[in-house]
Amino acid sequence: MKREQWGSRAGFILAAVGSAIGLGNIWRFPYMAYENGGGAFFIPYLFAMLTAGIPFMLMEFSLGHKLRGAAPRTFSKIGVKLEWLGWFQVFIAAIIAVYYVAVIGWAISYFSYSFTQSWGSDTNGFFFSEYLKLGENSPTKLGSLQLHIAIPMVLAWGITFAAIFGGVKGGIERANKILMPLLFIMVMGLITRIVFLPGALDGLNYLFQPDFSKIMDAKVWSAAYGQIFFTLSVGFAIMIAYSSYLPEKSDINNNAFMTVLINCGFSITAGVLIFGVLGYMAQEQAKPITEVVSAGVGLAFVTIPAAINLLPAPYILGPLFFLALVVAGLSSHISIIEAVTSALIDKMNWSRKKAASIVCGVGFIVSLAFATNGGLLLLDLIDYFINNVALLTSCLIELLVIGWLFKAADVRSYANNISEFSVGKWFEICIRFLSPIMLAVILSTNLINTFKEGYGGYAMSDLLLLGWGLVAAMFVVAVIINLASKPQTHQEA
Ligand code: ALA
Repeated sequence: MKREQWGSRAGFILAAVGSAIGLGNIWRFPYMAYENGGGAFFIPYLFAMLTAGIPFMLMEFSLGHKLRGAAPRTFSKIGVKLEWLGWFQVFIAAIIAVYYVAVIGWAISYFSYSFTQSWGSDTNGFFFSEYLKLGENSPTKLGSLQLHIAIPMVLAWGITFAAIFGGVKGGIERANKILMPLLFIMVMGLITRIVFLPGALDGLNYLFQPDFSKIMDAKVWSAAYGQIFFTLSVGFAIMIAYSSYLPEKSDINNNAFMTVLINCGFSITAGVLIFGVLGYMAQEQAKPITEVVSAGVGLAFVTIPAAINLLPAPYILGPLFFLALVVAGLSSHISIIEAVTSALIDKMNWSRKKAASIVCGVGFIVSLAFATNGGLLLLDLIDYFINNVALLTSCLIELLVIGWLFKAADVRSYANNISEFSVGKWFEICIRFLSPIMLAVILSTNLINTFKEGYGGYAMSDLLLLGWGLVAAMFVVAVIINLASKPQTHQEA
């Protein structure tokens, strides 16, 4: 069977950018920057982008293009004993997919509330008590299914399914050709209104004013690296799958630089948007900005609704903001599901339609766990372990495999040969030395801290089951699949 292909270069770039730009940019990046020293966060963030993000993207585009497989097949072509790494990455994608879609579901609900701001004036109480109905729950005591959360999730799954079912060109590329221009127009519309609001510039000063006392803190560096891998969709099977559909004649270097720079530029734009709104809100309420900001999940679903209440024409700006969040989330969710689907197509020789139906069907059922009273807690715990333990481990191993087993120099000459401009020796220095050393230090610090201090005050039994246990299970199952593989499955279909 001939491998599917993108219809055009622009189609591929839009899909790759659509994958990268997601909830991570609009919802995660601003509070990450805020919590980790404001302007000072940009130093580790830009360092991670240049020395890890760009080389990683170049590497994954080259691997997908050269070896023409989803992550498991790509790694098994590098070495038959490496197929497990691909499956480990596919499992990371599968788990992110099931909780990511819950946040898209919340954003769809909030989109509908935003026309009349029916969240009221107590946006905190509304989100946690009325909407999520979070009570005395825990990640293992989930309570009951909340239909009002599950229904918008069905909508999100429906759109993702349609795109995956429709194929690379007819589904994924087409969806991104609609979603991405829509997203850019909405964000531009929002930003031109927001920056002219009174107080907005104070918000921006706050975001960009560096707090240099934070720069020596290992947690800030960990946050920056974790954010770069998550936001660029690298290390969890996505970009390898997407680049495996590139036509033979493709400018890898240019595509990789463009994807990274557009994504990170978009993140900074989203930061400006959010902090502009917060600056305005602080001025309206005559409070310091630190008192209006809430971290994490709360930023998009508590603080932003409160700010929307105060905006001129909230019935326009509110829906625009939440629709932008939904659109950004959907284009990423499509890519996360494609990472899983393409791996099954490769491995099982299933048709795309069959693989898409099974992946989305099973994914939908599992994702309902996040539409329960305790869904938010489950999400928080799993998100932490997936990003800080599993994803960083996967990225470190991938760097070591490519840098030391496969020869980073070969990847570079492969990419340079088919690209318009060449990348220099810095690529190998980053892949072989700089990034693995940084990641090894960050990962070991994370592991030690999480062992010692736990996370988020959750019970040890919950951490063992849903944190450490889950990551260990992903690893074990990936290794079992690898061991059970017959040699012929490593050959091109
Ligand atoms: N790259 C996607 C995001 O940032 C997963 O949301």
